[in-house]
Amino acid sequence: MYRLIKPLFFQFDPEKVHHFVVTQLNWFHDHFPLGKTMLRSSFDVNIKGLEREVFGIKFKNPVGLAAGFDKNGEYIEALSDLGFGFIEVGTVTPLPQPGNDQPRMFRLQEDSAIINRMGFNNKGVDTLAERLRLLKSKDSDIVIGGNIGKNKNTPNEEAVNDYIKCFDRLFDVVDYFVVNVSSPNTPGLRALQEKEPLMHILNTLQQRNQKDGISRPILLKIAPDLTNEQLDDIVEIVMETGIAGVIATNTTIDRTGLHTKESVLNEAGGLSGKPLTKRSTEVVRYLSEKSNKAFPIIGVGGIHSPEDAKEKLDAGASLVQLYTGFIYEGPGIVKRICKALV
Ligand SMILES: Cc1cc2nc3c(=O)[nH]c(=O)nc-3n(C[C@H](O)[C@H](O)[C@H](O)COP(=O)(O)O)c2cc1C
Repeated sequence: MYRLIKPLFFQFDPEKVHHFVVTQLNWFHDHFPLGKTMLRSSFDVNIKGLEREVFGIKFKNPVGLAAGFDKNGEYIEALSDLGFGFIEVGTVTPLPQPGNDQPRMFRLQEDSAIINRMGFNNKGVDTLAERLRLLKSKDSDIVIGGNIGKNKNTPNEEAVNDYIKCFDRLFDVVDYFVVNVSSPNTPGLRALQEKEPLMHILNTLQQRNQKDGISRPILLKIAPDLTNEQLDDIVEIVMETGIAGVIATNTTIDRTGLHTKESVLNEAGGLSGKPLTKRSTEVVRYLSEKSNKAFPIIGVGGIHSPEDAKEKLDAGASLVQLYTGFIYEGPGIVKRICKALV
């Protein structure tokens, strides 16, 4: 079915199609008679043996939706009924911000890839917190990750305050946190991956990570463009700060080996999808081996098939996430991966 619709979707601007599809999906889920039941019976995954506990959280299956797809937590229930074992919302910032000018998302069809320079467009942490609070009040058991970042106008020296604001506002309504310092689309953000500023941000969050005897797992999301020396630093930082784990990886700024026409691949932004598969798996494997599996890793980057997911898990990931593969392969990919993992 998706194979038939995809060529039509791919005629239009990717961001507009994204908006159209998620709003239609939500309407179908919430208002179409039996819509929810139909989605669940077609896509939801209830396969025994896929459940796992990672950083103290129980996941019904290891396949999650990566950050950026549902930045404001507007489609969580409908997306969860497509089979995902967990949904990561965000990246959210303390204040709402529009992001970069459009167009800012480009398909590289010959490479099964996307370039994006969204620039953390989001409605702000208060709006997200309110929406998640409503969901909680319905006794939802969907596992939700809160991916947090800083506003574009906040200087790096004050970035820690933005992470604290998002952390405090979301503490009661998410299951785990992701500190995003690896997006290529906020000027200077990736400098926060250096040891000193990163230690400062993570230690500060860890000190606050305690409320009524509860603490939340904090993960760090890293870029695939780090050198081995920088990855060694990441292992040290995770161990020293005692955070729960790492998400590897975000999008890449590398453009080697692509087949799409130059005018598109020269667009500024982060590249995701198939060209990222190998590198992100390498990063997962490197971190897993260097740390002696001391902490869980969520593997993300170019998962377009069950084999890609298995490779990430074999390289040392405990869970996987996808974004671009979901767009190119359609919603059935979640169930296909889960079936292959049993
Ligand atoms: C359009 C788009 C927007 C994204 N926005 C975010 C974001 O806000 N925060 C984040 O941590 N990652 C973001 N990502 C990165 C994805 O979460 C993921 O790490 C990356 O795309 C690699 O996975 P994939 O190859 O399965 O897409 C975005 C990716 C895309 C394609």
